[in-house]
Amino acid sequence: MTGLGLEEIQGRVGADWARIIDLLKGKIALGSVSAKGITGEHMRNSAEFVAEELTKVGIDARVVQSTNADGTPGAFEVIGSRIVDETAPTVLLYAHHDVQPVPDPTAWETDPFTGVERDGRLYGRGSADDGGGIAIHSGALHALGDDLKVNIKVFIEGEEEMGSPSFIPFIEAHKEEFDSDLIIVADSGNWSDRIPSLTTSLRGNTDLDVTVKVLEHPVHSGQFGGPILDSNTLAAMLIASMYNDKGELAVPGIEGGQPVGGLQRDLDPDQVRKDAGVVDSYRLAGTDSLASRLWTKPSASIIGFDAHPVEGSFNVLADQTRFRISLRTAPTQRPEEAQKALVDFLRSHAPLGAQVEFSCGENGMGWAMDPDSQVVRNAEEAMRQAFGCDPVNKGEGGSIPFIPELKRLFPKAQVLVTGPEDPKGNAHSPNESISLYGLERNIVTEALLLDSLGN
Ligand code: BES
Ligand code: MN
Ligand code: MN
Repeated sequence: MTGLGLEEIQGRVGADWARIIDLLKGKIALGSVSAKGITGEHMRNSAEFVAEELTKVGIDARVVQSTNADGTPGAFEVIGSRIVDETAPTVLLYAHHDVQPVPDPTAWETDPFTGVERDGRLYGRGSADDGGGIAIHSGALHALGDDLKVNIKVFIEGEEEMGSPSFIPFIEAHKEEFDSDLIIVADSGNWSDRIPSLTTSLRGNTDLDVTVKVLEHPVHSGQFGGPILDSNTLAAMLIASMYNDKGELAVPGIEGGQPVGGLQRDLDPDQVRKDAGVVDSYRLAGTDSLASRLWTKPSASIIGFDAHPVEGSFNVLADQTRFRISLRTAPTQRPEEAQKALVDFLRSHAPLGAQVEFSCGENGMGWAMDPDSQVVRNAEEAMRQAFGCDPVNKGEGGSIPFIPELKRLFPKAQVLVTGPEDPKGNAHSPNESISLYGLERNIVTEALLLDSLGN
């Protein structure tokens, strides 16, 4: 690669390090929890903070409140650009400034909204997801400074954790500001903080609420129990019917897939158990590579279940039970198709003919990278230089549903999914953190990559 070179960029990132850490700490302190209200003042403050930080690195940035499809006010989005040469490629940098809630601060070892450095990591809600993405873009732009040779557009979203409800109307209203040749989505992560990765695929996701009804009203469990199963038990039987004896989701019409670009390295079951905190006696469900089970095969999780709490329960048969299934779909299957297959299956498996009703939630499509594109090769080379080792392809079980939407609206744009996360990062959980080693190399990678794309 010609251009600034590794050492020059490393030096510039090193000299900028205190600013990058301050940025992350400042961002964490804002507590930009979108679940507390996308349109809240705290979200406006967060967007303004980000716009100011982008301005410091040469981006002409501003905060714009989006409008939902129904005309109501939406999220505080940050958009900006720096055009250096009309003939050069244009790269859109994406991250999100909203963060997940903290339902139980006592589960944290440090204050969730104070950035705390400890053992090479910075702890705090949003330190990785996705404050890290903002820090990567900011650090890379600072490092390139006036040597920037590509045009930059930036979009830092304010409602990603809520499923991006106003995303489409927002892009449609700002098409020019999104138009680009390459979109770098820094909202995923690396194999580990030492081994870099491009994310090769993301799963889709969809929700389904199911109500199982057996009685018109609750009745005495001694008087009627036996021939009449309570609705909680019937719901449990219905849920269990989705799985085969290996614990695999086995619903006809819900597709699986294989790792995109081939499986370079499988996940280590012991590491996955450790990262997730699995109890010793539990055997991991399913067959085939662990990578395929986590990245490209479907999974269904019961994320809500309405039943009487144990405390204060009394001797009645529950009349009806509602639960919510979160279905993660293979990267290339349309989630609505998988959702329909699930509804058909559950309808035909109503235990003992119980009444089953459905309410379908939002759908988000998965995504698969084009492993043969030139820009993938550029990114891999940048990673190799910055981390000093070969990157390892990695799929993700999580979802970033707007990526396929971007691809639909800007078909000529390539998409690279990178990001600050690593398996120790605890995104969405207590004690979320970012590896500072990984962050520094991610910044160097992005700077090298942008530099390699210039004329
Ligand atoms: N950054 C995550 C997506 C992700 C998770 C990438 C794990 C790589 C590894 C993103 O912020 C997220 O949480 N997405 C949601 C999307 C949902 C709200 C539609 C998800 O996956 O649950
Ligand atoms: Mn994220
Ligand atoms: Mn997230």
